[in-house]
Amino acid sequence: MIFTVAIDGPAAAGKGTISRAVAARFGFAHLDTGALYRAVGVKGGDPIAVARSLNATDLAHPGLRSLEAGQAASRVAVIPEVRAALLDFQRSFARQPGGAVLDGRDIGTVICPEAEVKLFITARPEIRAHRRWLEVGGDAAQVLTEVKERDARDMSRADAPLKPATDAIRIDTSDLSSEQAIAAAIAEIDRRL
Ligand code: C5P
Repeated sequence: MIFTVAIDGPAAAGKGTISRAVAARFGFAHLDTGALYRAVGVKGGDPIAVARSLNATDLAHPGLRSLEAGQAASRVAVIPEVRAALLDFQRSFARQPGGAVLDGRDIGTVICPEAEVKLFITARPEIRAHRRWLEVGGDAAQVLTEVKERDARDMSRADAPLKPATDAIRIDTSDLSSEQAIAAAIAEIDRRL
């Protein structure tokens, strides 16, 4: 079975939690596409060359979840050649037999416009920043500033900006527990399977 679930949204909206749960529930493969951009960002050097030769070791870098890696990712993510270098891998992952869930910023709009299910996961910025702060610690006000800065950069770039696909289903997780958010996503997928 070829079946793609595209999950997009801003930083710390709950995409990762939902994607992992959906993958486990349906037995789909999962790709966190943010990790690709984070790996390119933290490796340093020429981001285009790095994106073209990205390998499994780069994706296992221990610092990938840090705030700095998120910022570095969003800076290299504006470069069209970086995005182009990562495109084929993401597309073939999405169409592998057995089903796939990909989460990111442009999955429903650019990587998999034909995805069987498209979800756009959002939450209020303060809530997202609080969740990220629980993960990374540090100064809460600075975490909020960085989350807002990264969203602004992701939404305003010319190539594949963060935005919902016209046929995406929105789920606002601000006032949902993770169990409720996961249940909402699973219900949408069940409807289309
Ligand atoms: O999802 P995550 O926070 O790990 O993504 C890090 C950054 O990578 C995002 O802020 C965004 O700039 C970039 N990204 C992207 N397209 C994707 C996934 C991530 O531009 N599909």
